[in-house]
Amino acid sequence: MSFKNRSIISMRDFTKEEILHVLDVASMIDENPKEYSHMMDGKIMATLFYEPSTRTRLSFESAMMRLGGNAMGFADPAMTSAKKGESLADSIKIIESYSDIIVIRARIEGAARLASNIAKIPIINGGDGANQHPTQTFLDLYTIRKSKGKLDGHTIGFMGDLKYGRTVHSLAYALSFFDTKMFFISPPDLRMPDDHLDELKEKKVDFTEVLNFEKVKHELDVLYVTRIQRERFGDELDYEKVKQGYFINRAFLQGCNKELGILHPLPRVDELSTDVDDTPYAKYFEQAANGIPVRMALICLTMGAIQ
Ligand code: NCD
Repeated sequence: MSFKNRSIISMRDFTKEEILHVLDVASMIDENPKEYSHMMDGKIMATLFYEPSTRTRLSFESAMMRLGGNAMGFADPAMTSAKKGESLADSIKIIESYSDIIVIRARIEGAARLASNIAKIPIINGGDGANQHPTQTFLDLYTIRKSKGKLDGHTIGFMGDLKYGRTVHSLAYALSFFDTKMFFISPPDLRMPDDHLDELKEKKVDFTEVLNFEKVKHELDVLYVTRIQRERFGDELDYEKVKQGYFINRAFLQGCNKELGILHPLPRVDELSTDVDDTPYAKYFEQAANGIPVRMALICLTMGAIQ
């Protein structure tokens, strides 16, 4: 198993052993972050964000800086040559000569893969359209393992925009390596796409699609809530139709499993009430914080600083 000079594009590129190795390295860093504070001395990360981001970009930059490296990039492509019509391929060819590792987020599915086929340095996919968000998945898995002690034997509910939610697509695939029972809870218009469900079927995952959280709440060990991905709707009217589709607050949690952990990749909009924040179920702020050790691990591994 080697991560050196590898790109992180899709969860489909990793074996179960490789996934667990990333989580183990992240735990090691989490326990003793100071020990790693010079691992990236003199190295530069470029963050190319063609879509909005708060956590992914800033936690990658913070992770790189905590490793002793530097970070530079853009959060608004309107201020770059993309606005003048430069192709992604050309931008990558240039930026790889300015940096040692590139994190990219783009609206177009497959953009990160394209970048990795061009670049000689590691490319990390910070989210490509509705497709994949592998680094979020690593930190989601890390959070589940850290809070529950293991990844096997859980019943997990995915709730919200399962159609366009790339975090759900990545995480459901990765969890198929573990003994997991899944419920996909969404309005019919936002259900998990068939190709993803077919893939889970092939991997013999025990899953059920349900309309209603009420029916399954007592069974869930983890509830993964997502916002409606408004920016991916072709038609604003379609968005208006589904926007009130689901909602979690403290009252709805009456009768749920006492050990339930609620995750959310954030940002939240209307789907998760702030009155859940100070219940023991809320794990989403810890989850966001876990982005640091997990991204530090991914940087060290792909840069060959840790085997
Ligand atoms: C997610 C994303 O960008 O897909 N955000 C994140 O990276 N934490 C989820 C979302 O935008 O809804």
